[in-house]
Amino acid sequence: MRVALGVSGGVAAYKAAELVRQLQREGIDVQVVMTESARQFITPLTFAALTGQKVITEMFDGESGGANVESAIEHIAVAQRIDLLVVAPATANVIAKMARGVADDFLTTLYLATTAPVVVAPAMNVNMWEHAATRENVEALRARGVHVVPPEEGYLACGMTGAGRLASVESIVGAVCARLGIAHDLQEETIVVTAGPTCEDLDPVRFLTNRSSGKMGYALAQAASRRGARVILISGPTRLDPPQGVQFVAVRSTEEMHRAVLEHFPSATALIMAAAVADYRPVSPQTKKIKRANGRLNLELESTPDILADMARGKGNRAIVGFAAETENVAAHARAKLESKQADLIVANDVTADGAGFDHDTNIITLYFRDGSEKAFARMPKIDAAHRILDELRGLRQPVGQAAATRRAR
Ligand code: CTP
Repeated sequence: MRVALGVSGGVAAYKAAELVRQLQREGIDVQVVMTESARQFITPLTFAALTGQKVITEMFDGESGGANVESAIEHIAVAQRIDLLVVAPATANVIAKMARGVADDFLTTLYLATTAPVVVAPAMNVNMWEHAATRENVEALRARGVHVVPPEEGYLACGMTGAGRLASVESIVGAVCARLGIAHDLQEETIVVTAGPTCEDLDPVRFLTNRSSGKMGYALAQAASRRGARVILISGPTRLDPPQGVQFVAVRSTEEMHRAVLEHFPSATALIMAAAVADYRPVSPQTKKIKRANGRLNLELESTPDILADMARGKGNRAIVGFAAETENVAAHARAKLESKQADLIVANDVTADGAGFDHDTNIITLYFRDGSEKAFARMPKIDAAHRILDELRGLRQPVGQAAATRRAR
């Protein structure tokens, strides 16, 4: 999702920096556009540092002195690229220009040039907000489909008290997300997600592990957090950064992962076991490095606890989702795991298929439900696959028949 954030000149301009961060948390790519007067309050450098993108401040970006037509054309291409324009804070002046179709700078030109939805969050002195001219302009924008996030009452920078203070960052982000169709449907959920491989040590320098990158589990954690869930991500060693806003628990062995899941599962509403858990560990890991010797070396392995099956036993009303990474007979193996582990849903993928499985950014998944139904999806980015899995989560906590009816209705 791409959003242009128009910042106009008011004391509240500094709050736009926090708005950028919160929009990014929702996975939104933000292009900041500043009016000339906004630059009196906050520097473009702040936004450039936050977004990693050049901030658009002028219609004609004449870096070498004269007006640069290429930059003007490139700038206007922003109008086609964005999924939404949000103006926050919007001054009385910018609102008036938008209402009348005056396009005398980049922000107001962008407003006319884009067909994307528009959200406006006004901030100004109480008398300016209540002035008949501003009222009419705001009504004109509303009548045109612009969503106005009204200012709040309170103490204003000018020393007066009344309506005019920029709405909270949360309510502006809420309005943007609603218009972009980003759901916040998991606010009631606390989800434990496991990810990555587990490692079983042979000695201080060697270990047994597998090829899991952790990408699917991290995508699930990120997607669930964006949809409002409290997320506890329990991860084996990976090269990934934990997504913002999730509680992160780093583990190494299956036993550590088991302990962490046992600790967090009671307060959760769902468990998603995306980790590729080692099924065996050395019976007697050595404290000193195993030295090379002639002939064969036999490793004696014992099985590790099945975390998923263990949790399913006392799950109550919680949803339990397992994964089945298979190389053959995917459906049969997935159905067998659904039964043997008593999971509510098994997400299966054939790790030998092109664009699926370990370390890919895409996956091809099929969901197997306890009522015998299944849902197959074409190849898609792991973050999209994560959303399709999360779409099912609340239904899994309903009685089986009712969940199936909900699925059919969708
Ligand atoms: N799992 C688990 N604890 C284990 C092994 C697996 O919780 N000790 C979970 C995985 O996180 C996954 C599901 O069980 O969600 C299936 O894992 P998978 O490795 O595909 O299945 P296994 O039961 O290990 O069976 P097999 O290796 O024979 O396919």
